[in-house]
Amino acid sequence: MYLEHLSLTDFRSYAQVDLKLGPGVTVLVGSNGIGKTNLMEAIGYLATLSSHRVSTDAPLLRFGTERALIRAKLVRGEQSTVVELEINAGRANRGRINRGNPVRARDILGICHMVLFAPEDLALVKGDPSNRRRFLDELLVSLMPMHAATRSDYDRVLKQRNALLKSARTGKFTAGHEATLDVWDQHMARAGAELLHARLELVERLRPHLKSAYAQLTDGTKEAGAVYRSTIQGVLDDDGGPAERLDEGSDGVEELRLLSVEQLTERYIQAFAASRRKELERGISLVGPHRDELELVLGHAPAKGYASHGETWSMCLSLRLASYYVMLDDTRTGGSAPILILDDVFAELDVQRRRKLAAIVAGAEQVLVTAAVDADIPDELAGRRVKVVPGGIDGEG
Ligand SMILES: Nc1ncnc2c1ncn2[C@@H]1O[C@H](COP(=O)(O)OP(=O)(O)OP(=O)(O)O)[C@@H](O)[C@H]1O
Ligand SMILES: [Mg+2]
Repeated sequence: MYLEHLSLTDFRSYAQVDLKLGPGVTVLVGSNGIGKTNLMEAIGYLATLSSHRVSTDAPLLRFGTERALIRAKLVRGEQSTVVELEINAGRANRGRINRGNPVRARDILGICHMVLFAPEDLALVKGDPSNRRRFLDELLVSLMPMHAATRSDYDRVLKQRNALLKSARTGKFTAGHEATLDVWDQHMARAGAELLHARLELVERLRPHLKSAYAQLTDGTKEAGAVYRSTIQGVLDDDGGPAERLDEGSDGVEELRLLSVEQLTERYIQAFAASRRKELERGISLVGPHRDELELVLGHAPAKGYASHGETWSMCLSLRLASYYVMLDDTRTGGSAPILILDDVFAELDVQRRRKLAAIVAGAEQVLVTAAVDADIPDELAGRRVKVVPGGIDGEG
């Protein structure tokens, strides 16, 4: 798939901007702070309904405005789709497909297939586990939009269950509380099992691509891997960090991966029962996918805390490339190639790695690259150059 036209109204620094694009490589060049990332962020938001830079919508609205509009024309084979998203201050965002009636924002998920790599991705290695869970869930939703509902069901039950645990901690825990908690346990076990099942399957698909992308990007002396650690296994301590690791930790995951959603539901119910006393003491849900970890491994050490700066970059980049390959060979998206966005990546890489990355991505259906300095872009990525100037695009809009 490729993005043929992007139009933004009151999004970030832009009052109005129109960007026309074609398949192949496009490099957006412009000085720091000119608005290159803002353009890429808009495409990312259309695909995931979240920004890679901020966790709330407010900064996405141009200063002093109440509504931003992202409109994109996407071309897939012979077919083109116009998808629009209205971001509203103080009320629900709304989507629109092919100029039809307004739909929920969630209904546009799965239309724009893209993978975005940006410097913020360093948090995938360095940051807390929530970054890695979010990485998995976002990819999951782009592959299977119905999992947006799985996620929000889970989050809703988790919130209600936490509220109950908290109240039980402060007041007296009555038989009435106990019965309600049993009900929440059932709901959370089911939604949690669906999420865990999907995540385990996804990690399995990501793993070989992660390994090969890392090998291609680097000289191949270290192997990159990822291991999912579920709180069901009891290998995480209460703060979400790795505790005494079971020697057979990855076998434990292997075993979970073979279980059905029903069997995982059963496991959660048992795990909730086993941890109920502790949960009542702490007033919070301790077991569930909201506390799981995707551990990234380089060679024999965890990437977090051990990887060098360059290794961290390569690892993050490899994770995004792995997402790209998983999306690429996903039959459910009809094999539609995702748009590949590389925001500010080349400046950070040495010449060798620039070349290698360029060679890997050059064959993608559409690659959008941003750079402050044209010279940072390797020759292998010869393509169209777009100059970003104050308030818009040079020669367009
Ligand atoms: N909500 C907003 N309203 C108006 N301007 C905004 C808003 N949010 C960000 N900006 C402006 O957008 C600019 C940042 O744009 P952007 O991050 O796209 O720059 P860039 O071209 O990617 O720069 P760099 O090369 O440094 O990465 C800043 O000048 C910032 O003040
Ligand atoms: Mg930028």
